[in-house]
Amino acid sequence: MQELYPGRAARDISEVYAEPPTVAGGVHVSMNVITTVDGRAAVAGGSHRIGSPTDHRLMRQLRSHADAVVTGAGTLLAEGIAPGIPTELEARRIERGQRPQPLSVLLGGRQGVNLRGRLRELRPDALVVFLPSGAEAPGLHEKATVHFCTGERPAPGEVVRTLQERYGVRRILLEGGPRIYSAFLSTGLVHDLYWTLAPKLTAAEAPRMLESTPLEVTALQLRSIHEHEGELYVHYAVGGTWGSGLRAGVDV
Ligand SMILES: NC(=O)c1ccc[n+]([C@@H]2O[C@H](COP(=O)([O-])OP(=O)(O)OC[C@H]3O[C@@H](n4cnc5c(N)ncnc54)[C@H](OP(=O)(O)O)[C@@H]3O)[C@@H](O)[C@H]2O)c1
Repeated sequence: MQELYPGRAARDISEVYAEPPTVAGGVHVSMNVITTVDGRAAVAGGSHRIGSPTDHRLMRQLRSHADAVVTGAGTLLAEGIAPGIPTELEARRIERGQRPQPLSVLLGGRQGVNLRGRLRELRPDALVVFLPSGAEAPGLHEKATVHFCTGERPAPGEVVRTLQERYGVRRILLEGGPRIYSAFLSTGLVHDLYWTLAPKLTAAEAPRMLESTPLEVTALQLRSIHEHEGELYVHYAVGGTWGSGLRAGVDV
């Protein structure tokens, strides 16, 4: 693995994407996303085929820092999720005082979430689902802790606040999809963006990195770029001048 920026040096994969900082009294939020060169976030309905095994390892590394991994119902439906981390990454978490595996958090809309066969490698006590009030949730309470939110959809601020207050979460990793990324970015809650640019093209009709919720033009600060076999791993700080990372007026 080559580090292209800030220095040009060989790096072991374990040195890439070191632990993100925590936010004093708050919650640090990162997002991890992969796209093709033509900006598509899915190929044949899913994102797994876009990335290489190295990207998948980096994804698990980022997960290993998080107290909670957040995914939308659209992603669950499209590709299923296997939100765990390999057991060899658990020891470092335990040393830091984290639970061995991150909490898996699902955000659903009015239609609820369909868990059938789509969640892999997950203990039921590790699953938290947020739904709008009145959403369908047949059988869900046996498999997860369910929170009903006030708005038409679970609002990012409400989700973050609940995870912090009820579960002691201090670091969140967003794993998509594009509608969830947009919702969190538009609320000013994201501190770091980890973007894999896969050396692939597809002219497919597929979602882009961000969808649905309009976003103000948002400045990013480049932190690092690594390269392996043509795949680029780019780390940006999002709006790096926000101090705590939260835009003024956002109630978390
Ligand atoms: N390239 C990548 O890194 C990557 C990562 C993950 C997923 N993907 C791809 O992205 C696609 C799925 O993405 P998606 O955008 O369709 O679905 P999504 O972002 O995974 O989930 C959208 C769902 O979440 C619900 N939701 C709950 N709270 C929300 C909120 N605050 N804002 C917006 N939606 C909220 C929506 O409700 P409503 O039904 O009420 O709208 C909708 O049902 C798949 O093709 C997947 O393969 C790519």
